[in-house]
Amino acid sequence: MNERIAQMSRTVYVNGAYLPEEEAKVSIFDRGFLFADGVYEVTSVIGGRLLDFHGHARRLERSLGELDMASPVTMDELLGIHRELVARNAVTEGMVYLQITRGAPGDRDFVFPDPETTPSTLVLFTQSKGLIDNKAAETGMKVISIDDIRWGRRDIKTVQLLYPSMGKMMAKAAGADDAWMVDDGMVTEGTSNNAYIVKDGKIITRNLGSEILHGITRAAVLKFAREAQMEVEERPFTIEEAKAAEEAFITSASAFVMPVVSIDGVSLGDGAPGPVARRLREIYIDESLKSAL
Ligand code: PDD
Repeated sequence: MNERIAQMSRTVYVNGAYLPEEEAKVSIFDRGFLFADGVYEVTSVIGGRLLDFHGHARRLERSLGELDMASPVTMDELLGIHRELVARNAVTEGMVYLQITRGAPGDRDFVFPDPETTPSTLVLFTQSKGLIDNKAAETGMKVISIDDIRWGRRDIKTVQLLYPSMGKMMAKAAGADDAWMVDDGMVTEGTSNNAYIVKDGKIITRNLGSEILHGITRAAVLKFAREAQMEVEERPFTIEEAKAAEEAFITSASAFVMPVVSIDGVSLGDGAPGPVARRLREIYIDESLKSAL
């Protein structure tokens, strides 16, 4: 083991055991590996506490249900594992990644294995990362638009992330930070976040459906916005409408609320993070800390 690994070694969780990361193993026959047959969640940590754990647990149960996949643990047990990992790795700010797959039946077969004989695989690990003091929140992000060629059940949080990953690479190649995906002329979402524009002071974001992931941060931010008497409209919008907007932003568990300052090279407003995005970022961090676990 080299020195770097020795210093960086985390404790991770695999199927009931807390292990040093270099000892944690999953079968090569795991359906997550062979078929992307798995779901995941990312829960952020601030001050050593989990933000919106129950929202993530509810969405996980929904993803599992939609794919007829069993959870090897209860949601209460999951909370315990999250907390244990945060404590063991002394995470003050960052996230907990969780993945459940349909397990390793021992052969490659398109047919789902019998859950009685093939238990699902459960993996969790932490990543320490500064989330509140994020330079991008001060400068804002640049996005490009790309076609949304993902499958039609984007409301299920599966580990099929190849296209979103390619989207990030397309953005990087274009000198931007992320890509907004467009389906049938309408923006769906960012590669790993929900997308918003602000028009006449009103917050506009795509309505929920199978076309987008039902973001946990989205739900919280819209609730806080409404409580702060800000107007919200949930409907699809085009990339042209977005380019003409006063401001734009994205939300996700790892980015919270992040301003977008340009789309396909077109600057929004004065090219700096807008007041609505800045205010929502503050409100989101303050309010979600109040209920952090
Ligand atoms: N991504 N849309 C997509 C496609 C996402 O992958 C994500 C989250 C979101 C925002 O959801 P939430 O607010 O619940 O994080 C929207 C996570 C953070 C990731 O893949 O790392």
